[in-house]
Amino acid sequence: MEVVTTVQEMRQAVARARAAGARIGFVPTMGALHEGHGALVDASVAECDVTVVSIFVNPLQFGPAEDFHKYPRDLEADKAFCQARGVDFIFAPSEKEMYPEPPRAFVEVEELTAGLCGAFRPGHFRGVTTVVTKLFHIVMPDVAYFGQKDYQQLAVIRRMVDDLNFPVEIRGVPTVREADGLAMSSRNRYLNPEERRAATALYRGLTAAKALLEQGERNADRVRQRVREELAKEPLVREQYVEVVDADDLSQVSYIDGRVAVAVAAFVGTTRLIDNIVFDPSAERTE
Ligand code: PAF
Repeated sequence: MEVVTTVQEMRQAVARARAAGARIGFVPTMGALHEGHGALVDASVAECDVTVVSIFVNPLQFGPAEDFHKYPRDLEADKAFCQARGVDFIFAPSEKEMYPEPPRAFVEVEELTAGLCGAFRPGHFRGVTTVVTKLFHIVMPDVAYFGQKDYQQLAVIRRMVDDLNFPVEIRGVPTVREADGLAMSSRNRYLNPEERRAATALYRGLTAAKALLEQGERNADRVRQRVREELAKEPLVREQYVEVVDADDLSQVSYIDGRVAVAVAAFVGTTRLIDNIVFDPSAERTE
């Protein structure tokens, strides 16, 4: 495994691999890697000849009151994690390498970014789509892997790639959960033991929603209400939103007659967590 820190070296390494006929898989991350990232890496290693993992805490996607400075950074642990899973290249640029000048060009996906997390994190998705565009231009992958846990991010990136004809295939990988159902996230490390226990309320709410949907409930308000009831049982949990949205365009749904995502965001103490499930009434299946 090679650790590359400059755009030029990364481009050269990928060009060599491509000239040798390799299919390039790419897993963009902000580091603090966990088993959720592990599932993305495993999918890439299984499906591609060369796997590139980027590790870059992107300042552009954090609001002024958000956790950019305290976001967990542990490059040595991340290197060992990637090495053990068969990654070929880590791309770990500095901030100066990615943004030598204050950026004046941005990529923005409209409408899909207006609701859910976008409503509470102004500028966040503009930061994500801009850095992912830059990373795609640097790594030039054939396939890129994103977690379903960040459901809105995945939908926004799919739309960006479709609308702007990026020559890359986007793969969504199912959420990896702890034994008690908590979705894996780098931010879980902020939780103290009491908050860690309370954080399972998000999954309990979504599991209750899944049961209702599988029993045939199609009224979105009743499904949302069921999730809220579970969140309200935990005094350490403060709901930010619970929404039922169309699984593709993320528009709000009142009657469920197509694939939907039930998405939740909540603060547990001061840590903001998100989670979701996807339900398809025609298949009666929940992901
Ligand atoms: O999901 C993340 O970790 C980030 O939003 C991403 C896609 C690496 C862009 O910085």
